[in-house]
Amino acid sequence: MTNTDLRTRIAAELPGVLDDLARLVAIPSISAQPEHADDVRASAEAVAALFRGAGCPDVRVVEAGGQPAVVGHYPAPEGRPTVCLYAHHDVQPTGPVEEWSSDPFAVTERDGRLYARGVADDKAGIAVHLAALRAFDGRPPVGVTIFVEGEEELGSPTMPAFLDAYGDELRADAFVICDSGNWEVGRPSFTTTLRGLAEVVVEVRTLGHALHSGMFGGVVPDALTTLVTLLGTLTDADGSVAVDGLTTAEVAHLDYPPDRLRAETSLLDGVELVGTGSVVERLWAKPSLSVLALDATPVAKASNTLAPVARAKVSVRLAPNQDAAAALAALQRHLTERAPFGARVTFPHAHAAAGSVIDVDGPLAREAVAALGEAWGVEPLRIGQGGSIPLAGELAARMPGMEVLLTGVLDPHARAHGIDESLDLGDFGKAALGEALWLERLGSRDA
Ligand code: BES
Ligand code: MN
Repeated sequence: MTNTDLRTRIAAELPGVLDDLARLVAIPSISAQPEHADDVRASAEAVAALFRGAGCPDVRVVEAGGQPAVVGHYPAPEGRPTVCLYAHHDVQPTGPVEEWSSDPFAVTERDGRLYARGVADDKAGIAVHLAALRAFDGRPPVGVTIFVEGEEELGSPTMPAFLDAYGDELRADAFVICDSGNWEVGRPSFTTTLRGLAEVVVEVRTLGHALHSGMFGGVVPDALTTLVTLLGTLTDADGSVAVDGLTTAEVAHLDYPPDRLRAETSLLDGVELVGTGSVVERLWAKPSLSVLALDATPVAKASNTLAPVARAKVSVRLAPNQDAAAALAALQRHLTERAPFGARVTFPHAHAAAGSVIDVDGPLAREAVAALGEAWGVEPLRIGQGGSIPLAGELAARMPGMEVLLTGVLDPHARAHGIDESLDLGDFGKAALGEALWLERLGSRDA
């Protein structure tokens, strides 16, 4: 096929692919909520049916003790390489539904963007692969393995077991993780670094039972004040992380003007940035620490009572090359050693996932840079990202030397995980064309 043909083919496939994306989005595949387990299963079946319909001869739904994933193979034409195309079909919870501008599980178009939970992160990734394969009528010019995970948003807890069981059939000449983002709308980008993640639920206990705050306040510490004091030791006055043992990496340098950052984040006038260093260093290279949630008495139910126990969920994004287990240990050590008044500190939950450093220098990656440049009409960038994809680190550890490419259709306006998540339709079409052009280029290479 000529490139003009492929452009025409992708354009012809896009409306149908977007309809299929809308059908996938309508299934609330929230992996973190057990009441949606049937939906996660139905979502996997729907993804499998789509690739079966797109000519994949042997798609199946498989798991290794966790959430259902989809795996399928288009065999390689004689002498041609094989690529593995990855995305995930599980999504984050919606948050307060009443805050959404439209139903989170019904795709709605406004001003060139589609709005819904998972429409960008990461059901769009599935749809990019689907569009590229349909452009070849289900007979791609290279071998293609499809891998669509169902528990990425949980931190991929069973990925090690999954790769023990299925890793051999996922091994490929290049592995495309279509779950990342671009520097800005209209600018294709390869992600070269992702941050890791260490998170804990920290529980503080000071009393055996609640007490009248007037009778005993001033002599015995309550758990909530003690927890808040402890959390305050995690950052410096300028908002930098103050946990010993966390490191900083080298990442891509790009200029992120503070005005652009304010506009993209909705930072309120007069509220300052936290941390030090360039903006992208703070986002991609350095650790960041956020208290995500508290278990404490709600204000509406408060009485003048000293609380015996309080909990917080603390999340630390890690430098891309930091050992995640070491970082988690450092965080737990800080919270244990710095607890005021000898309060009892425990960790009902603790989890770490490694970041990754990915070069884009291999022969198949270079073809991808050229293909995306052609599809988008502009030179791709190499960028970092502050988010985490545990699979990327697992692949690097288990399949050293395999070319890994991190692409995607998130953009700074996508609000992944947030209210009113959205996808830019123009970028989506370009991403699909870029992937198709890449497969076409690889089809004339020897394996
Ligand atoms: N697609 C994101 C990762 C991402 C976000 C890449 C932003 C680039 C830019 C992914 O689905 C995700 O959210 N991952 C989780 C992983 C965690 C549960 C271990 C994350 O980063 O919070
Ligand atoms: Mn994702």
